[in-house]
Amino acid sequence: MTKDNLILAFETSCDETSVAVVKNGREIKSNIIATQIKSHQRFGGVVPEVASRHHIEVITQVLNEALAEADVTYDDIDAVAVTKGPGLVGALLIGVAAAKSVALAENKPLIGVNHIAGHINAANLIDPIEYPALALVVSGGHTELVNLISPTDFEIIGDTRDDAAGEAYDKIGRVLGVQYPAGKKVDEMAHLGQDTFHFPRAMMEDNDYDFSFSGLKSSFINTVHHADQIGEELDKNDLAASFQASVIDVLTHKTLRAIRELQPKTFVLAGGVAANQGLRERLTAELGKLAHSPKVVIPPVRLCGDNAAMIGAAAYNQFMVEDFTDLTLNADPSLELPYASEMLV
Ligand code: KG4
Ligand code: ZN
Repeated sequence: MTKDNLILAFETSCDETSVAVVKNGREIKSNIIATQIKSHQRFGGVVPEVASRHHIEVITQVLNEALAEADVTYDDIDAVAVTKGPGLVGALLIGVAAAKSVALAENKPLIGVNHIAGHINAANLIDPIEYPALALVVSGGHTELVNLISPTDFEIIGDTRDDAAGEAYDKIGRVLGVQYPAGKKVDEMAHLGQDTFHFPRAMMEDNDYDFSFSGLKSSFINTVHHADQIGEELDKNDLAASFQASVIDVLTHKTLRAIRELQPKTFVLAGGVAANQGLRERLTAELGKLAHSPKVVIPPVRLCGDNAAMIGAAAYNQFMVEDFTDLTLNADPSLELPYASEMLV
């Protein structure tokens, strides 16, 4: 029998301080998440300086809780993993410093993980990804279609030209008077309304996998401002439903195109916006209609947002090929996955 491998993982790229212990990249032994959302809400978004300060304050406690809940000591840990980017540099640095400290003090191999690879590998905590696979990563900072060639070989085939999907949710949420982060509430409102405004669907006809949400956002804001000026009251649930219908139409259309083209064995929906009920339902329904439908893995909502278990799952793939890093590891706020060659797109 092969030995089990336990990875201690850190995630501090934005506004959640999280530490997890993950067994064999598949099984969560613990996944402690300390969220700072309340501290940022009054500013309407994440304040980097405040985020870093909170991470420093709680990281040791979160680490101790993760070890205690998993019922392990450092002796049981086979490697230490950490998100090295992309994200807020000051926030990332706290996780990187913490992981490096443990790796040095406890003499463990260190693994630097891409945050997007983490979101995608949340799938492995539910149902193993079979390759080749395709992932739609939708979060506050990302809207990407990623071709997964193998567990350690990814390439972006489509990306947003402007706002990320979650960013658009948060911006139109503010106009609707919804607190940051607005995605969950706008999703709930959308379920109570109808698509009566028929906002634009950007780039649907384009022969690529790219996205754009700034036109939709502007159209939404103009509609609300115009109504304000003439004293007309608009139904907020219908506004939310119309916005969401446009986002889901575009995401679904491009995803289906990529699936038809690439014929992946697994499709993964990942990132904070993957918590969206409308998107989950629509993609599951549309993929079910395909003649050759891939296996669909959509992690539960608790694993869609930022958490360290997904980093531990991604790190395991690197652990297996001994993709370790030394103590010069640094945070890289704009770390990117490679883009596919022109040939593929
Ligand atoms: O992945 P994540 O936790 O952090 C980043 O890496 O960005 O994603 C956060 C984003 C926020 O923009 C939030 O509004 C959005 O995910 N979000 C949602 C939903 N739940 C969270 N967007 C749409 N529908 C949801 N149910
Ligand atoms: Zn994220």
